[in-house]
Amino acid sequence: MYVCICNALKDKQLTAAAADDARTVAQVFRRCGARPQCGKCLPDVAALIEQQREAEGGAHAVAAE
Ligand code: FES
Repeated sequence: MYVCICNALKDKQLTAAAADDARTVAQVFRRCGARPQCGKCLPDVAALIEQQREAEGGAHAVAAE
């Protein structure tokens, strides 16, 4: 699904960038080789990053047990 229409970025690309250690919206865009334009997608990109962080936290919690 497209999240950023301006840059034609899909949720999977953005999540992959977040999983690849991009921790901020700006870092995710940079990792995707893009720059925010209209800014409408920024809250959604931030939410994807947060989901990725939570998923990683869950994986770490399981690994620690
Ligand atoms: S929709 Fe992402 S910058 Fe416009």
